[in-house]
Amino acid sequence: MNIFVRPAVKADLAPLHQLFGSAPDYDPPEKFAGHLADSDAGFATFLVAEADGSVVGMVTAYTQKAPMADMLPAFETQKIPEMKALQVAPVARQQGVAKALVTALEQELQKQGHNQIGITVRATNGAAQRLYAKLGYLPDTHGLYYQGKPASQGDLLVLDRAAQWCMVKALA
Ligand SMILES: CC(C)(COP(=O)(O)OP(=O)(O)OC[C@H]1O[C@@H](n2cnc3c(N)ncnc32)[C@H](O)[C@@H]1OP(=O)(O)O)[C@@H](O)C(=O)NCCC(=O)NCCS
Repeated sequence: MNIFVRPAVKADLAPLHQLFGSAPDYDPPEKFAGHLADSDAGFATFLVAEADGSVVGMVTAYTQKAPMADMLPAFETQKIPEMKALQVAPVARQQGVAKALVTALEQELQKQGHNQIGITVRATNGAAQRLYAKLGYLPDTHGLYYQGKPASQGDLLVLDRAAQWCMVKALA
């Protein structure tokens, strides 16, 4: 598969809606236009991947809190860009699309002068955890987060979308 990563443009919004608009539990479709607006306003970088001429994936990184996205407080205070909204179309998965998107995003952030990148990943999302581990992301030192804050030993928590690991990578 021939994978090509480039900045998102307005013409990508319709295919992104079609691919990911009904993905359970992920960004609602109206967010795609918001990510583009945030990117145009300088709050974020928004990339898409094409395979053989069709859009098959997307990723964003936020360098500050923006109209369409909050940042994890730990990332915001340390000025660590936060990767968000990584999605690959089911038919294109496990062929290196996410790896290409994340690698291109890291290179773009480096060009912008950033030396770290962070991601929060759901505690139940094993495929994504393995992807980030393979790409060199390490868990931070706080263990499990719940609703954006480190959890403590003995907490009784629900394993919903608010239960996340926080992983970071140095960009060198
Ligand atoms: C997670 C996701 C982005 C991976 O995309 P992908 O294009 O299939 O990933 P890649 O092909 O680039 O995989 C790179 C590495 O990630 C790991 N990986 C990816 N999918 C995996 C899976 N289902 N099971 C185990 N490992 C997986 C592998 O280590 C793989 O390397 P390898 O093929 O050399 O073993 C994709 O499954 C997806 O869109 N899921 C739904 C949305 C989501 O979970 N987004 C992440 C939010 S944090």
